[in-house]
Amino acid sequence: MTVYLDNAATANPKAPGVAAAMARSVGELNANPGHGGHHLAMDAALAVFEARATLAALLGVGDPRRLVFTAGATAALNQAITGSLPGAGHVICTTWEHNAVLRPLSAWRARTGGEVTVLAPAGARQLGAEDVVAALRPDTRLVVFTAASNVTGVLTPVLEVGEELRRRGIRFLVDGAQVAGHLPVLLDDAPIDLWACPGHKGLLGPQGVGLLYVAPGVEMEPLLLGGSGVRSEEETPPGELPERFEAGTLNTPGILGLGAAAAFLADQGLGALRAREVERHAQLVEGLRGIKGLELFTADDPTRGVGVVALRVAGWPSGAVAEILDQRFGVCVRGGLHCAPLAHAALGTAPDGAARLSLGPFTTRQEVEAGVEALRWVAVRTPERAAREG
Ligand SMILES: Cc1ncc(COP(=O)(O)O)c(C=O)c1O
Repeated sequence: MTVYLDNAATANPKAPGVAAAMARSVGELNANPGHGGHHLAMDAALAVFEARATLAALLGVGDPRRLVFTAGATAALNQAITGSLPGAGHVICTTWEHNAVLRPLSAWRARTGGEVTVLAPAGARQLGAEDVVAALRPDTRLVVFTAASNVTGVLTPVLEVGEELRRRGIRFLVDGAQVAGHLPVLLDDAPIDLWACPGHKGLLGPQGVGLLYVAPGVEMEPLLLGGSGVRSEEETPPGELPERFEAGTLNTPGILGLGAAAAFLADQGLGALRAREVERHAQLVEGLRGIKGLELFTADDPTRGVGVVALRVAGWPSGAVAEILDQRFGVCVRGGLHCAPLAHAALGTAPDGAARLSLGPFTTRQEVEAGVEALRWVAVRTPERAAREG
């Protein structure tokens, strides 16, 4: 039996319709969209256009060309960070950032001598817009905020931060990896300049495709240079979106799969899916709170999180918890640092990390119960006793 509680890593299952759309791409529509004028290439281009339009409608983007397809959130964040920072200066981010943010920033710092301020919460108080305002400097070029921690699932105040930054004309990049598809986000209305997210988590699409939203007026250098199917006679990349940031052949199967997922989400309504996630999150936390020896890291109120709970079991390394849940109970969770080392440092769970349970819109009541029961078994044993019991 498999009980999949690792949706923050990638959604499982994917939305209905994803596999069929991908099969159609490699079957009926097998041509290069935007890189050819024959009828099959045009049909593929039209299908990509439709997928982009469906995603734009879901994410509140009036002009679909502002949604750039990337290879994932990591590719989108690299483009946004490196493309926004041609020289030295100052950047603000938070302790909750994923390595997809921290590593490009670290490379930029090493390359240019730029400086990064990493904001960390003080005690139990969450980071607020006032912390960002207090850290601003005359040379601050960019602020990067994850919209929700991938370790705890706790939402951050990105809209409040964005309001402050917009008033001051400072570029704001949001890592929406854990929020896209979980919460209704209307990007054109939000004070956000750049928004990155993968297609394979809350948007319920396939791996290998993601999105970068580029707000009007935001200029940056493209990271990937190559064929764009337009203005081939020029040495430099085209200026227009989305081609400026989409060099090379697109991941058409991934894009069509993601388009089908977006259509499913729009049809179901993000609000309805969210209500189910909040209910399961509450069930999970209630079940886990009843187990002695567990320390939980999650939103106090499920409406302030995205269905993620990290935990430590007294006496157990997090990897051993994940391993025994998998091997003995078929429960898939993730141990370790979740590519977010500073988050674990802030929580006091470094260097071992935590076991993370993360829900999706298809997670059932029974699956949550199975996860809780498996942890109840672990919590009353030492790793040695569990090993003896096989
Ligand atoms: C907060 C956050 N940012 C960025 C990423 C990177 O996403 P991807 O690996 O799909 O590029 C993840 C994935 O785990 C994440 O949780």
